[in-house]
Amino acid sequence: MGSVPVPADKSIAHRALLFGGIANGITHVKGYAAGADNDATLAAMQQLGAEIERVGERELRIKGTGLFGLRAPAAPIDCGNSGTTMRLLSGLLAAQPFASTLVGDASLSRRPMMRIAAPLRLRGARIEGAAHPKKPQEITAPLHIGPLGEDTYLTALEFESPIASAQVKSAILLSGLFAHGVTHFREPSVSRDHTERLLSALGAPIRAMGSFVELDPAGWNGQLPGFELDVPGDLSAAAFLVTAGATVAGSRVVVRHVGLNPTRTGLLEVLRDMGARVEAEPLGEVSGEPIGNLVSAFGDLVGVTVGGERVLRSIDEVPILCVLAARASGTTTIRDAQELRTKESDRLAMMAKVLRAFGVTCEELDDGLVVQGRPGKLTAAHVESDGDHRIAMSAAILGLHADGPSRIDDADCIATSFPRFVGTLRALGARIDVA
Ligand code: S3P
Repeated sequence: MGSVPVPADKSIAHRALLFGGIANGITHVKGYAAGADNDATLAAMQQLGAEIERVGERELRIKGTGLFGLRAPAAPIDCGNSGTTMRLLSGLLAAQPFASTLVGDASLSRRPMMRIAAPLRLRGARIEGAAHPKKPQEITAPLHIGPLGEDTYLTALEFESPIASAQVKSAILLSGLFAHGVTHFREPSVSRDHTERLLSALGAPIRAMGSFVELDPAGWNGQLPGFELDVPGDLSAAAFLVTAGATVAGSRVVVRHVGLNPTRTGLLEVLRDMGARVEAEPLGEVSGEPIGNLVSAFGDLVGVTVGGERVLRSIDEVPILCVLAARASGTTTIRDAQELRTKESDRLAMMAKVLRAFGVTCEELDDGLVVQGRPGKLTAAHVESDGDHRIAMSAAILGLHADGPSRIDDADCIATSFPRFVGTLRALGARIDVA
């Protein structure tokens, strides 16, 4: 029971750092109380010459380099666990006259990078990676990018992406800021659009029409102005608390000041279909992004079938959706979620393992899961997260429903997106300790 904040929206904070870092002038980012993933982008932009300082606990001041002012990094750039950092930076670095190398932790070093390398190469970028151990056409980090030769520029690009991915889209749009020619990007369904919103607010020559985006730098002065941005709370972090509120008997949880961008709100629609007592109280727009408070109260849930674009709009919430499914009556079927296998862990396999450990029956499909809701207490479990923050947090919420104390190993990864997760759950009345 209670009212709590969540960390800054991770996706928006990455973009604030990247665009602030290449803007002309000073940017202020408010509400920055982010985790290790965002800090990886912050450190990378500092390495590339942006001056970034913390002013106050939750505010950053960025002195940008200007579009053409980045400097060659003296050492490989460490993207840590963050796919967004690596993929978005690749788009930025592919356009530079200097070479750079991007490295990541063990999980990031297994993740597919051809999805950005292939389109960037099509517009003249040099980008090489390590051969994937199992997939002959795939590459992984470390990535070696550039340099572009003297008087060489990225070209126009017309790209139809086989996957809907905001990371791919954003990498291509970042490279497009530097290209000589138009960028046309189309994806099967609209992925999160924070890049388009911010670029458009900064006066960049971008137009989005459904799942098609055009960036045409002809006639543009090549300058992004410094800006003021108030980062809303992260809906993907709020999802864990909303789920706790909806599933723990007697609960009522308010999560304050959360980003409610419609490309991210798939889970709220699924919750409504499950019969959950979850309401979004709109608070208007902040920095071009809709925000609101989320109010979640305990109630009976029914199983549902989820697939298609709603899965894309809740792509990071599928692990916690599995927890809701475990507490609903009947069967929940999740389809079209094959992308989950390429995240920080294979999230379909990991959630199947974790659910079974808690005594929940489920079937793993190629592109999803079928979960049988289990009434009454779950079986207390000892699970590990495979270093994946969203698996660890989902397991913690399952633990609130168990018939005894549960243990989650490898839980320090939670700091990648939600460093105060444990303290926030405690503030809401949960009994949870860090060993
Ligand atoms: C993100 C896009 C999504 C999401 C990730 C953050 C972003 O990845 O899963 O956590 O900030 O652009 P994909 O674009 O690979 O689906």
